[in-house]
Amino acid sequence: MLTKMLALLIVVASFAAPVLAAERHMMEPRVPVDKLAEARALKSPFSNSPEVIEQGRTVYHGKGTCFTCHGVDGDGNGAAAAKLNPLPRNFQHHGFWRHRTEGELFWVIKHGSPGTAMIGFSQVLSDEEIWGLIHYERTFAGRHGPGMRGRRGNMEPGGMGGMEGMGHR
Ligand code: HEC
Repeated sequence: MLTKMLALLIVVASFAAPVLAAERHMMEPRVPVDKLAEARALKSPFSNSPEVIEQGRTVYHGKGTCFTCHGVDGDGNGAAAAKLNPLPRNFQHHGFWRHRTEGELFWVIKHGSPGTAMIGFSQVLSDEEIWGLIHYERTFAGRHGPGMRGRRGNMEPGGMGGMEGMGHR
C-alpha cells in the first residue's frame, strides 16, 4: 500500500515538477563562486542573546518585510510566496542550517540571491540588523536548529554551532 502510494506520488510529482514552483536545493550555495570564500569568512559579532534575537524579530516582522515571503513562522509560506519560483527558503527545515555558514546567509541578505525574488537589503538594513535577523531566523528551526545540539550548540560569535570546526562547507 505504502509502496503504491509512493509510486503514485512519484508519478504525480514528475508530472507536476515542470509547472510547480519549488524551493531551490539547499546543497547549492547561493553566494556566487567568486564571493564564496569571502562570505564564509564572515562571522556574527553578536552572541546569541535574547536581545539580539528580539531585535531580529522586530526587523523580520517590520521594516525587513521578510515575513511576506518567508512566512510569520519562517516556513517559507508567506502571503507572497505562492507566486514565486524558486520558493522562499523554509527556515524551519533544519537540514538547511547545516548547509550554510552564517556568513553566507549574511551575504545573501545583504546582496540577494541572483535571479530570484530574494533581493539584497543593503539599502534598507544595517549590518547589525542583518546579523540580528540571522539569529532570529535560526529560532524557527526549534530544537533541531543550529546551536541547539550539544557541543555544536554553543552559539558563540564565530560559528554556527561549530560547523566550520567540523570541516563543513
Ligand atoms: C519578495 C520575497 C522575499 C522577501 C521579502 C525576502 N525574501 Fe528571503 N528569499 C526569498 C526567496 C525566493 C529565496 C530563495 C532564493 C534561492 O533559493 O536562491 C529567499 C532566500 C533567503 C535566504 C536563504 C539563502 C540561501 O542561502 O539559501 C535567506 C537567509 C533569506 N532569504 C533571508 C531573508 C530575510 C532576512 C528577509 C528580510 C530582510 C528576506 N529574506 C526577505 C524571497 C524573499
